[in-house]
Amino acid sequence: MDDLNQLDEIMACRLDDGRKAVSPCTIVIFGASGDLTIRKLIPALYHLAVEKALPSPVRIIGFARREKDDAVWREELKAGVAQFSRSKSVDEKVWSEFAANVSYCQGDLTDPAAYTRLAGKLTSFGVPELRNNLLFYLAISPSQFGAVVEQLCGANLLKRVETPGEWQRVVVEKPFGTDLPSALKLNNELTRFAHEKQIFRIDHYLGKETVQNILMFRFSNAIFEQLWNRTSVDHVQITVSEKVGVGGRGGYYEESGAMRDMVQNHLLQVLSLIAMEPPVSLEAEAVRDEKVKLLKSIRPVRDVDKQVVRGQYFAGMVDGKLRNGYRQEEKVKTDSNVETYLALKLFIDNWRWSGVPFFLRTGKSMPLSASEVRIQFKPTPNVLFAAKGGLKLDPNSITLRLQPNEGIYLRFNGKVPGANLQVRPVRMNFSYDSEFGAYTPEAYERLLLEAIAGDATLFIRRDEVETAWGIVDPIRKGWSDKPLTNREFYSAGSWGPVAAEDLIAASGHTWRDPQPAK
Ligand SMILES: NC(=O)c1ccc[n+]([C@@H]2O[C@H](COP(=O)([O-])OP(=O)(O)OC[C@H]3O[C@@H](n4cnc5c(N)ncnc54)[C@H](OP(=O)(O)O)[C@@H]3O)[C@@H](O)[C@H]2O)c1
Repeated sequence: MDDLNQLDEIMACRLDDGRKAVSPCTIVIFGASGDLTIRKLIPALYHLAVEKALPSPVRIIGFARREKDDAVWREELKAGVAQFSRSKSVDEKVWSEFAANVSYCQGDLTDPAAYTRLAGKLTSFGVPELRNNLLFYLAISPSQFGAVVEQLCGANLLKRVETPGEWQRVVVEKPFGTDLPSALKLNNELTRFAHEKQIFRIDHYLGKETVQNILMFRFSNAIFEQLWNRTSVDHVQITVSEKVGVGGRGGYYEESGAMRDMVQNHLLQVLSLIAMEPPVSLEAEAVRDEKVKLLKSIRPVRDVDKQVVRGQYFAGMVDGKLRNGYRQEEKVKTDSNVETYLALKLFIDNWRWSGVPFFLRTGKSMPLSASEVRIQFKPTPNVLFAAKGGLKLDPNSITLRLQPNEGIYLRFNGKVPGANLQVRPVRMNFSYDSEFGAYTPEAYERLLLEAIAGDATLFIRRDEVETAWGIVDPIRKGWSDKPLTNREFYSAGSWGPVAAEDLIAASGHTWRDPQPAK
């Protein structure tokens, strides 16, 4: 490490002092034989064990229908860690200590006897915290959430009224409903048996370092925060592109589409962090209050045709390979109008952002997988350089690269060296890798740890979910019966349909596509 870096390290402002400690507990995973458990949850818990970040003692119980014993489940999990974890390897010593605390409980979610067995297992743990501090992770279908919390309450494992010295929490995965009425129903089912404070709704986007850094970047740097408003910002572009198509998930995607799959949750979450006002503190409720306030300031989309573009990919080349069109994918209707791409122009009706358009887009079968936010500043008056003719100067911009090549770059103009008088955009680049080394913990590691610690900052509150559905539902209704037009289809491997170019061009702008790493 060079001297300057050492100095910067000493000057780090440590915000962890008031951080909640992790207390001994038992993590019960419902859906223990499912895809999420093997690919994400257990690898994340294993890595937390490697980093000695898990509480001690800790127990992990898997609950699912299939018959198997502890030894078989542990072997499956170990193979999963080797295949899916970020290290793609298993340290035998850490694994054997970790696996000794892992066990399996077979049962049907609807069967009260299964919960009696689960309670029996918990009772066998000697340490009181392992019996009473319980994190229930529902890696199951949302249609089953209500039944599980009811059964847990019935078995006295989940207590809605807090008992001093113990805690129980319920972690749930998206989708949090498919529209506002279904989200309300789901939330009502959950909160009948668990207090809202006990419910931790995961949006894995919020577990990403770069997404968490949005608030630090905005509110710990006076030079940027002063520009973060309608006076300086011309418009904002948020892009979340995926190279993958729908693949084998056609059945799911036919029901969800890009709006429910990406916009209602991830994109609106990123938008709220980019645009929210500074919270009064870093406490969970203070941060979440500001996010909800921001979502509530989004102007309802009245003219869907002028503000929203759907798209769907047809066959094309992605990475030199032919990709089927969406309508040719498995379990997709041959005349489906489901959107695999969406572009939206939104306005935020508050003092800071009045009149500034926010362009959001997301799509599948795109040239790159990337998530970026580009803050485009207003142009200079162009007086000095206009006289010389030629192209207008490129306005300044800040791009927050959320993934991959995580970092932030500032684009400004500089003189090209030499006798000719030329000005062109140059970049000032901050890269996580070169500044901090390749430290890329999985979002689930951070989120699991926060749920164990009981810090809800990175989880979605009930009113956030419901407000977000209130934004997207009217848009979906606006296009419900209309078939896609020719201008809304795009070739797989391209950046989206022509209609999306028209949408942004109507405001005098163009999309700035994420660039591959050099
Ligand atoms: N997979 C992901 O990457 C991902 C990402 C984001 C969100 N999610 C969400 O996470 C949840 C789980 O997804 P998944 O992909 O892991 O699903 P999955 O592979 O289909 O697994 C479902 C699990 O639920 C269990 N289960 C179903 N019915 C049961 C019953 N009556 N009694 C006991 N266990 C029952 C299954 O156990 P048996 O097989 O033993 O019956 C299985 O372990 C879903 O809500 C999904 O939308 C998943």
